[in-house]
Amino acid sequence: MSAFAFGIDIGGSGIKGAPVNLDTGELTAERVRIPTPQPSTPKAVAKVAAQILSSFTDNDLEVGIALPCVVSAGMTRSAANIDKKWINYPAADVLADVLGRPISLINDADAAGLAELYYGSAKDKSGLVIVTTLGTGIGSAMIYNGVLIPNSELGHVEIDGFAAEKRAAAGVRTREDLTWEAYAKRLQKYYRTLESLFSPDLFVVGGGVSRNPDKFLPLLSLNTPIVPARLRNSAGIVGAAAYSVSTPTTAISAGA
Ligand code: BGC
Repeated sequence: MSAFAFGIDIGGSGIKGAPVNLDTGELTAERVRIPTPQPSTPKAVAKVAAQILSSFTDNDLEVGIALPCVVSAGMTRSAANIDKKWINYPAADVLADVLGRPISLINDADAAGLAELYYGSAKDKSGLVIVTTLGTGIGSAMIYNGVLIPNSELGHVEIDGFAAEKRAAAGVRTREDLTWEAYAKRLQKYYRTLESLFSPDLFVVGGGVSRNPDKFLPLLSLNTPIVPARLRNSAGIVGAAAYSVSTPTTAISAGA
């Protein structure tokens, strides 16, 4: 890996970016955060991403961008917590055009998973690790023997007739004003379901809620070890940056 890259994490409420030291997984400067434009259309979001990138002077780094969509072959294929225009959208080409340089695109939870794999709680773990991010939605990264299986979308597993993230995302706890005990019951059901489907060797729990692991992890009773993520709210930035140097980038399209 080259030593530095730039990561941008596009979320439903904020877009964050910072340069990353890839040897340590640490941000080399304080991240810049700008609220996500509403509606969060690709063009509006791309402009903010460009603004964040240009606010750093050390500006010839590889750029990785994470966003809450299924990503395949540079196209975004889904849009659960972001404007629907992202569905079947040539996001990598458009972002590269607006940012004026090649970029790499990855699902946000996959980026968080890579960050945990390279620098955090999933490092040196063999077998199947499932990283979940509990935030506005639920994101997931499946890592088998150190290899990411992208776009797993385990927040959309259906439980009791609902997509799991509609009952167990961290945002639901706040919105429904659930006690930690009530919220833990929902997580218990969620992680039990994942256990019965995938028999993982380790769960890693990230997202905003992982700031308070003591409030809910001890309340869960699972066969699989479950640990908090280590990178907390920089995981998307760090994972996107790391991904940018480990994958072929999308070239700026002709005419840009
Ligand atoms: C999206 C995922 C995303 C997760 C976390 C889900 O609603 O479908 O792609 O990783 O939210 O942002």
